[in-house]
Amino acid sequence: MNILFAASEAVPFIKTGGLADVVGSLPKEFDKKEYNIRVVLPNYTSIPREWRDQFRFLSHFYMDLNWRQQYVGIFEYKHEGITYYFLDNEYYFGGMMPYGRAYEDIEKFAFFSKAVLSSIPVIGFRPDIIHCHDWQTGLIPVFLDNFRYGDEFFRGIKTIMTIHNLRFQGIWDTKRVRDITGLPQYYFSPDKLEAYEDANYLKGGIVYSDWITTVSHSYAEEIQTPFYGERLDGLIRARSNNLTGIVNGIDYDEYNPETDKMIFKNYSVSNFRREKGKNKLALQKELGLKEDAKVMMIGIVSRLTDQKGFDLIDCIMDELCQDEVQIVALGTGEDKYENMLRHFAWKYPDKVSANIYYSEEMSHKIYASADAFLMPSLFEPCGLSQLMSLRYGTVPIVRQTGGLIDTVEAYNEYEKVGTGFGFMNYNAHEMLSIVRYAQSIYFDKKRQWNKIVERGMEEDFSWKNSALQYQELYEEL
Ligand code: ADP
Ligand code: GLC
Repeated sequence: MNILFAASEAVPFIKTGGLADVVGSLPKEFDKKEYNIRVVLPNYTSIPREWRDQFRFLSHFYMDLNWRQQYVGIFEYKHEGITYYFLDNEYYFGGMMPYGRAYEDIEKFAFFSKAVLSSIPVIGFRPDIIHCHDWQTGLIPVFLDNFRYGDEFFRGIKTIMTIHNLRFQGIWDTKRVRDITGLPQYYFSPDKLEAYEDANYLKGGIVYSDWITTVSHSYAEEIQTPFYGERLDGLIRARSNNLTGIVNGIDYDEYNPETDKMIFKNYSVSNFRREKGKNKLALQKELGLKEDAKVMMIGIVSRLTDQKGFDLIDCIMDELCQDEVQIVALGTGEDKYENMLRHFAWKYPDKVSANIYYSEEMSHKIYASADAFLMPSLFEPCGLSQLMSLRYGTVPIVRQTGGLIDTVEAYNEYEKVGTGFGFMNYNAHEMLSIVRYAQSIYFDKKRQWNKIVERGMEEDFSWKNSALQYQELYEEL
């Protein structure tokens, strides 16, 4: 069976968040004898040169986007057994970053979505299923519907729309979207592309795809409610018979404390009690924190946005910094949160380290060095950081929402179960009291703490099970 993944980012080429991890790691996990999985991405000039220099030019053509004629170049590259296609057009994909202003992105991904379909006959790989990811590819099922009228070649191709984050939908006024897509008026009604009088790419994808998936069971339930539904809950309820939640995995080879070359000291589930702490001491030294084996180090690796609960952290930092803890944060995002972290690092230089940049290496060091990992998300479709933490024996402290419910079992000291700590209400002091409860176990009941670590490290969040669920879905379609 031929499957084409279409997405706006993938590791190792270009990454802004977990979407890239998923698109870069899931295709490798399918049974190669049964499934020929290929991936199509934009050929951003912001993909590092060392990759782009290796891409092989395949072909080019010109494509109509309403009154515009646009160049589409196709490059090909094989990486770890997977064939990637990169669609080229410097007007759209030039620039320092994969995403820019919303106004530009809306045209960029209309181009990309149509170019994905138009490239298929040129590439000569006819997918049975196009697996679309997030709003940037939401127009693919819509264009496909349109293509099918005129061209028999496209009949019978199925589509899956995977929602990694319902908050981002690709919304712009209908008039402009008509202009940049050239789609007939027929598509711009409230039962199709239109939502609340604007055109909405993700909505189009949800309406026109054969199946919808999202990245955890709990999120699949949550998005059918107004609180999490981002104004599309009605539509999602209407399509709930064709909706499946499949929890994400992570690449267990890349994230492996036994072999990871980016961390200071390798360790495993059998020797973490002795070895893991060496990472903490080395990181304290590197970041200029007080070198202290006993202190409880709390890690944060995250986009700095409202989604991730940073307003809660802001409220309680002063109180938390009275405790025997250190907070090591790595992230970029909204100015207010970048400055908030810088402020606390200035105020508590021994205790808080604010690393306002993007670094794969530093993220691995934090996953390996911290004792606990804080992730108090307002909503979380799946979340990968907590999976990475579990893998490195770093105990997640999470708000129980979305994928965090499905992947972190809250510690219960009477039943002696659990892999992390969880709180329910989006409330700063509820979070603080759970952090302090975790501290009480960490400082006073070390054996129990180590059992939590051990259970977390023994969990299996590799892709194996989830890839099987995707395979079942492909078969069914
Ligand atoms: P989201 O996709 O919502 O940002 P996830 O938890 O699914 O959240 O995935 C986040 C991914 O991005 C993880 O791989 C995490 O390690 C990584 N990440 C986030 N911020 C940074 C950063 N500043 N430096 C390095 N990696 C980061
Ligand atoms: C999104 C979500 C995150 C999820 C990731 C990959 O960015 O915010 O929860 O893990 O996509 O599916």
